[in-house]
Amino acid sequence: MKTFQIRTVSFGQGQPKICVPIVGSCKEELMEEMGSVTLLSGDMVEWRADCYSPGGETESVMKMMGHLRKKIGDPPLLFTFRSKAEGGLGDISDDAYFALNECVIKSSKADMIDLELKRGAEGIKELIKMSRPAGVRVVLSYHNFLETPASEEILERLHMMQHLGADMTKIAVMPNNSEDVLRLLSLSQSMKEKHAKVPFIAVSMGEEGVLSRIAGGLFGSAVTYGAGLHASAPGQIAVRDLRKIMNILGGHRCGVPKRIFLIGFMGCGKTSVGRLLGEKLGYSFADMDELIETEQKTSIADIFRTKGEGYFRELESRLLVRLSKLNKTVISCGGGIVERDENIKILSGAGLTIFLKDDINSMYDRVKGDGNRPLVVGRDAEGDGCGGFRELYLSRLANYEQAAAISVYGKGKDPKQIVNEIVQLLQ
Ligand code: S3P
Repeated sequence: MKTFQIRTVSFGQGQPKICVPIVGSCKEELMEEMGSVTLLSGDMVEWRADCYSPGGETESVMKMMGHLRKKIGDPPLLFTFRSKAEGGLGDISDDAYFALNECVIKSSKADMIDLELKRGAEGIKELIKMSRPAGVRVVLSYHNFLETPASEEILERLHMMQHLGADMTKIAVMPNNSEDVLRLLSLSQSMKEKHAKVPFIAVSMGEEGVLSRIAGGLFGSAVTYGAGLHASAPGQIAVRDLRKIMNILGGHRCGVPKRIFLIGFMGCGKTSVGRLLGEKLGYSFADMDELIETEQKTSIADIFRTKGEGYFRELESRLLVRLSKLNKTVISCGGGIVERDENIKILSGAGLTIFLKDDINSMYDRVKGDGNRPLVVGRDAEGDGCGGFRELYLSRLANYEQAAAISVYGKGKDPKQIVNEIVQLLQ
């Protein structure tokens, strides 16, 4: 399967990503939703532009996109203009629909657009061709608000959407009984195993379909939609609840943790969180960097300077093997632990691995000027002040996702709050 990454999020790997739709009908409402989205620990935002402008007025839509882009920061922004027939408020012709999406692609203000399969293959192909050089990803979607069509029909739509060149496909259907929900989940499983060439989203809507929204990831679904201030489709549950349940499901795959590994980029708070978490659980605490410094009787910076990064990585891997045999221990790993595949294998099998996330600027602010972090030194020159730092983080993102069973968002929280969140998950 062709996975891909947008900004700070990788699709088709790790836990399903939580997409928070915003559905305001005016600027004030949208800004209020956006303000709360950042606190809700979603992974990305979908702007349902049809709720703002059902007639799709290009100028006002583009202006609003500009405001949203500025406000959102790191997470990807998905542009969706949902038509009435597919559960939205949008009421425009196919030509106007394609013209609006073309404008969005050309503006580069959205990272992704959602195109409805029913709008017609020709227009879709054109837009997909345009989206490539603009760096915009396309989700092709198929909705059915009346029923869950026959399995063959669903698979046929999936194949068609892939064939048209979707970067991600989406199937959202209405169940008429609990069997329909099971059928959709089992279809997801076979998409994951046999048919999907790109990440896909499979949703069974309505009250009955909630299971697919919370557990769809176990059957291969790459994204799930969670309600921010308002739901945008039947059956969506609040982002906070969604995250909690998904983490419980993810965590349980590892069994009762004998040891907990904290991974994440420099400055995400692994050491402070790990120490506190150890105390709270009655576990020992081990910080890999500190142990390496004690055993080598010198600083990390000195090891990098005199022996090189390769030598440090070797020490790190050997230490991880030793630590992965300890019981009742919280282990804070160095930010680069996921650089080696052999380490990822250990992390995903030897305990519960938690990916601590935060936004890039906050992590950078915590570590800039720290001379004992050789990989930060000299990384402050590019772009918005942390370009090199950002690049290194992004290059590791997929590996963090692969190694971890659950992710915890630290944004705007202190270590104590993060620890409480983790403890709750473990209970
Ligand atoms: C590194 C992160 C550091 C330390 C070393 C390399 C990295 O650990 O292991 O400087 O490659 O990201 P922290 O993540 O605890 O800062």
